[in-house]
Amino acid sequence: MSSKIEHLKDLSTLVSLCKRRGLVFQSSEIYGGLGSCWDYGPLGSQFKLNVKLAWWQAMTRRSDVVGLDAAILMHPTVWKASGHVDTFTDPLVDCKDCKTRFREDHGMKDGKVVCPNCQSENVTEARNFNLMFKTFMGPVEDDGAVVFLRPETAQGIFVNFENVQTSARKKIPFGIAQIGKSFRNEITPGNFIFRTREFEQMEMQYFVKPDTASDHFEQWKETRKNFLLALGLKEEKLKFVEHGENELAHYAKAAFDVEYEFPFGWQELEGIHNRGDFDLKQHQEFSSKKLEYFDEANKEKYVPYVIETAIGCDRLCLALLCDAYREEISELDNGKTDKRVVLGLNPQLSPYKAAILPLSKKPHLQELAHKIEADLITHWEVNYDESGSIGKRYRRQDEVGTPFCITVDFESVDDKKVTIRHRDSMEQERIEIEQLTKYIADAFHQWN
Ligand code: GAP
Repeated sequence: MSSKIEHLKDLSTLVSLCKRRGLVFQSSEIYGGLGSCWDYGPLGSQFKLNVKLAWWQAMTRRSDVVGLDAAILMHPTVWKASGHVDTFTDPLVDCKDCKTRFREDHGMKDGKVVCPNCQSENVTEARNFNLMFKTFMGPVEDDGAVVFLRPETAQGIFVNFENVQTSARKKIPFGIAQIGKSFRNEITPGNFIFRTREFEQMEMQYFVKPDTASDHFEQWKETRKNFLLALGLKEEKLKFVEHGENELAHYAKAAFDVEYEFPFGWQELEGIHNRGDFDLKQHQEFSSKKLEYFDEANKEKYVPYVIETAIGCDRLCLALLCDAYREEISELDNGKTDKRVVLGLNPQLSPYKAAILPLSKKPHLQELAHKIEADLITHWEVNYDESGSIGKRYRRQDEVGTPFCITVDFESVDDKKVTIRHRDSMEQERIEIEQLTKYIADAFHQWN
C-alpha cells in the first residue's frame, strides 16, 4: 500500500468541511445568507474560543500586560481624534455599463481604471467611501445621534490608558490586551472568514518610553512570531514583511506584517506597529485631558509611545484550519484509493480533546463508555459517539482534529482497559481506564 499527503489547495473544500461538521455556517442561511457574515457552529465556536484563550493567556500571563473589555460603541469624537472619520476611506468607482462597484486600485490596468467585471473603461470618478458603519443612539435619527460601530478595538484601549494605568498601578513599559468585535463596511470582503464586515480582533497596545520604542518593537516581532509557530502554523507558510515608508498608515512610525500563505495567496495575518505617540496625543487634544505618564524614579513626564500587535481572530482561525487540513491518500491492494481527511490541529485548539467510542450499543459497554465520558468531561471537551462503524467514527473525529479516540470494547468491562488511538499516527495502545486522564494530560504536555 503506498500513500501520499495532499494539503489544502482550494478554499471551497474547507468551506464545505466547515459547514458539514458544524464549524462555520453562512449567516442567515435560510434567508439566502448575508454577504460576508458567518456563524460559528458547535465545533467552530469551541475552536474559536480555544484560539482566543491561547492568545489571551499568551498576552496576560505576564506581569506587564493586563486585559480590557471596552464597549463597541464609543463617543463619536473618538473617531475624529483617531483619524477614522477623515481618513478611513477607500476610493470607490462605479462601472456605468454593468453597474459593478469596485475599489479604484482593484481596477487599475496600465494606468487606466477598467471595470474588473466587464472590462469597460466607462467608469465614474473615484469617490471616497468611509468604511465605518454608522448607527443612531437613542430614538431620534438625526446627525447629533450618530455613533459608529468601532472599526478597531485599539481606540478602546487608548481612551482607557489613564484608567488602566492608575487602577492596575502599572509602570511603563506595560501593555493592555483586548479581544472584541470590530466592523468595517469592506467594499470587497471575501475568501470565507478572511475578510468580513464583522470580525473579531485580538489587539495589544504596549506603552513604552519613546526612546525604547524600537527595542520593544523588535521584541514584540519575535514574541508574536514564536506564538504563531507554537500554535502550530508551518514556518514555511509564514513571512515577515516590513512596510516601506510610503506604505505606512497615517499613525505608524514603523510597521511589520506577518503574512500567511493561504490557498488564495500570501496575505496579511497580523500587523505589528510602532504607532508612536499619535493616538494618545490626538486624544489629549480632542478631549483636553492629559494622557501623560509620570516616571517617579526619574521625575520625568512624557506621552508614551505605543507598540501595537493586531490580529484578526477569524483570520487566524482560517490560517490554522488551512494549515491543519491534510488528505492522506492511499492506494489499496485491491486497486482502489482511500482518502483520510485530517485536521492536524494543535490539541490545545481542537474542539474535542477526545472521543469515547463504545464498540457496540450493548448496555454494559454504553454504561462503561458514559462513565469514562463523565470522568474526562470534567477536564476537557469530549465527544461520545456510538453511531456507525468504528472506522467511520474514527474518520469523523480525524476530520475535526480530535487528537484521541478511546474505544471501549467487550474486554474493557473485564480488564478495565481501553484502546486509545492517536489521530496523526493512527497507532493504537491498550491502557488502563484509571490512567486515561493522566495519559492524555501528559500527551498534551509533550505535544509541542
Ligand atoms: N489597530 C490596528 C488595526 O486594526 P489592521 O491592520 O487594520 O490594524 C489588524 O487590522 C488585523 O485585523 C489584520 O491584520 C487582520 O488580521 C484583521 N482584520 C482587519 N480587517 C479585517 C476584516 N475585514 N476581516 C477580518 N479580519 C480583519
